[in-house]
This record gives sequence, C-alpha cells and structure tokens, in this order.
Amino acid sequence: MPFEKNILCIGAGYVGGPTMAMIAAKCPQYKVVVVDINPEKIRAWNNGPLPIYEPGLDEVVNKARNKNLFFSTEIEKGIKEADIIFVSVNTPTKTFGQGAGQAADLQYWEKTARQILAQSDRCKIIVEKSTLPVRTAEAMERILNNNPKGLHFEVLSNPEFLAEGSAIRDLEKPDRVLIGSHETPEGLQARRELVEIYANWVAKEHIIESNIWSAELSKLTANAFLAQRISSINSISALCEKTEADINEVAYAIGTDSRIGPHFLKASVGFGGSCFKKDILNLVYICQSYGLTEVAAYWESVVKINEWQEKRFVQNMLANMFNTVAGKKIALFGFAFKAHTGDTRESAAIYVTRWLADENARIVITDPQALDNAKLDLADIKEKIEFETDPYRAAQGAHAIALLTEWPLYRSLDYARILKTMAQPAFIFDGRNILDHPKLFKMGFNVFAIGKAALKHF
Ligand SMILES: NC(=O)c1ccc[n+]([C@@H]2O[C@H](COP(=O)([O-])OP(=O)(O)OC[C@H]3O[C@@H](n4cnc5c(N)ncnc54)[C@H](O)[C@@H]3O)[C@@H](O)[C@H]2O)c1
Repeated sequence: MPFEKNILCIGAGYVGGPTMAMIAAKCPQYKVVVVDINPEKIRAWNNGPLPIYEPGLDEVVNKARNKNLFFSTEIEKGIKEADIIFVSVNTPTKTFGQGAGQAADLQYWEKTARQILAQSDRCKIIVEKSTLPVRTAEAMERILNNNPKGLHFEVLSNPEFLAEGSAIRDLEKPDRVLIGSHETPEGLQARRELVEIYANWVAKEHIIESNIWSAELSKLTANAFLAQRISSINSISALCEKTEADINEVAYAIGTDSRIGPHFLKASVGFGGSCFKKDILNLVYICQSYGLTEVAAYWESVVKINEWQEKRFVQNMLANMFNTVAGKKIALFGFAFKAHTGDTRESAAIYVTRWLADENARIVITDPQALDNAKLDLADIKEKIEFETDPYRAAQGAHAIALLTEWPLYRSLDYARILKTMAQPAFIFDGRNILDHPKLFKMGFNVFAIGKAALKHF
C-alpha cells in the first residue's frame, strides 16, 4: 500500500527527531523521513543509542522506525519525494557582523530554502518548525517562489513548544499545536493539510490556527514570558536572602492566586537551555530594528537578571568559603541545564564551572546523562576538571557541593555518608532548592539555598 503522504523533516536534532517520531508513531498511513547533514547523528538515530536522551523516546522511535519512519543523510532525495517539508534546523544567535550576539543566524535556514528549491519539481508545503524571527516566512517565500520553474511553495509556521525532559509527553498531549498560514485560498488549504496531520491524535480544540506572523511571534513571546517568570522570581530571591523571607513561601503564596498561577515560579541558579536566551535576544533585536527601544530594554533585562543570578550564586560560594576556593575540591552535582535531559546548552553549570576554574578550584562534575556534553563544553579547560559518574565518589574529599541540576536522584542520596567523606567544614550550595536544608544543617553541613537565609555553623 502506498503511503497517503510523504513527510520530510530537515534537521534531526532535539526537535526534528522526537517530533517526527511522534507523527510517524501516530500516523502509520504517512511516510516520515528525517534527514540531517550530520551522518553520525543519523547513524545513531538508525542504530542507537539515540543521539539525545529523552524519557520515552526509545519506545516511540522503535514503534515506527523502518516501518514508516526513516532517518537518512540523503537530503536531496528526501526533498524530491516529499509533499510536506518540515524545516527544523538550528537557528543559533549570530556570532558575527550586524546583530552579532542578538540576531538569529539564519544561514542554515536560507541554505535549506535554496536546497529545497533546487531539488523540487513540483509544488510543496514548507513548514517552519525552527524558532524564527517574525516575518522570516516572507524571506523564505521570496527565495522559494521567485523561481523559473513556475512552482509555488506555501510556507506555514508551526513552532514547536515541547520542553526537553518531557518532550514525549508534550508531543503526545500538547497544550496546543499552533499553525499559522497566509489567509489566502492556497494558504488556508495548506493549513488544513497540516491540521489534518495533527488531528490524528490531537483534539481539535488544542489546534490553534492563526495568521502566519502571529504564529511566528507567538513562539518567541512564549519563551520570553516563561523566562521572564524565572527572572522575576530569581530577582525576588535576592531580596529574600537580605530580609529572611523565604522564596519558596513567597512563590507558593503568590502562585495560589489564579491570575498568577503556580508554574515557573521556582527560584534557581538561573535558566539555561538552547532557547530562552537566544529567543529573547532575537526578540530584543527585532524590537530594536523596529525602533522599539523601550520594549527591547524590557526584554533584555530578563537575560541580564539571569546572568546576574548565575554570578550571584558563584560570588556567594566564594564569600562563604572564606574568600578562596583555590586548591579546594568542589563537586558539582548536575551539569545538564535541567533534569531528565543530557542537553547542556547554555546551562548555568557552564558559567559556574568556568568561574570556579578561574579561581583555581579543583572541580569534579557528576551528572547521570550530561557528562559527554560537559566534556565537549569544557574541552578548553579539561585539565582542570574531573568527570565522575558516581556522586558519592565525586564528593569524596570535597570542601563543597554545588547542586546545579534538579535530578531527583540528588534528593535521595545518603548525605550523612557523603558528609563523613568530605573536608570540614562542609558546604552545600543548593542551586535548585530541592534538598532538605534543615536536615542537612542538623547533620553538620553549612547550607546555602537560593532565596533563603543561610544555615551556618559558624
Ligand atoms: N531544543 C528545544 O527544546 C526546542 C524547542 C522548541 C523549538 N526549538 C527550535 O527548533 C529548532 C531546532 O532546535 P534543536 O534543538 O532541534 O537543534 P539541534 O541543533 O538539536 O538540531 C538541528 C539539526 O539540524 C541539522 N542541520 C543544520 N543545517 C542543516 C541542513 N542544511 N540540512 C540538514 N540538516 C541540517 C543539524 O545538523 C542538527 O542536527 C531551533 O530553531 C530551536 O530554537 C528547540
């Protein structure tokens, strides 16, 4: 039986891989091909272990792989055969030229558009899955539709809202799927085709349709709002530390207000991840380019508070460890930017490690999933760092533990056993507020949490 639709996804990363695996698993009537320029990644998607750690991903991939889900490096062939092409390549912050440090680097995106055009001999629907600056579809359409072949490409915006660590749950039961198109007959027809794909498992009331610019801007705005909540609570955590208010109590008290809600009110060492900072800076750049200086400054402050929070965390370590960490062993519990992922992009742990290395501390990093990525992130200072899978061994002889990722396993460790093996006085800096601080203090630790009074024995 031929497949009803041929779907291609360009980019087999954190978004392309899981999203396409879910579509294939839910829609056996479609053929889904995921292509990438990175052969190593494709080999891993085909033969395992999968190139990313994501709970539940193995099962979804196994269900469909080599039945209606295929991973390949044959990009040109994939384009030729496809009816619908999702583009999920990376869109990092530009590091050169105009807009460096803020604007999105769209070179991978534009290359993909040109490649689609070169390989196509019939009209296709192109779906923006990557997070892009508002009005990128306009540029994409100019490249695609100014062609001598007389082909028409309809561009849709279908931003991805999954969160790493819960990607499979988010894809299976999304709060919403957002699909933006032009409101022309061709645009609306293409929109219907994409709605039809998701409607195989997502209830219609969770599929939001909009104009294409709203869809593009909604993704940047959603990330800006989420990050803004973290920076807001983190800014208040600093005030708590000065006033003996407790940030968890404040967060709970304000979160019960239904207008505010309880989510994303957890104070921490700072947000990381590949998206928040990049997307906000992108928003800032767009606002500046439209002359909206005040709007740009408002959103930029969200990133500034985050950087300040990371810095505050390490300064607090130094101040409380008698103003020197030189030669002291410090165990970092967690390196991933959040629990349940091996992703370390923009993790606060990178900043903390580099700063401690500059202070000549002896650093040992432990993490259940992120050590391979940590080694790559810190390749230039690798002689200053040890990597250890076992947290008990990581803490042996350490002067301090800094908990940087909220892995549940760190909550259930035997800290009395750990304390006995550490240098005294022993310090714990809980950058995620997940430990039982009074209990640790009673055991003999000096405990420093975010947004709470310090518990010190001296
Ligand atoms: N990671 C997330 O949680 C998340 C969530 C929502 C949206 N997004 C957005 O989705 C997009 C992709 O993010 P990601 O985390 O999957 O990135 P990623 O770096 O994990 O994956 C991108 C992949 O695209 C491939 N690629 C780049 N250029 C290519 C080309 N010309 N042809 C074929 N493959 C190419 C890369 O080799 C890489 O494997 C970004 O715009 C990001 O902002 C990410």
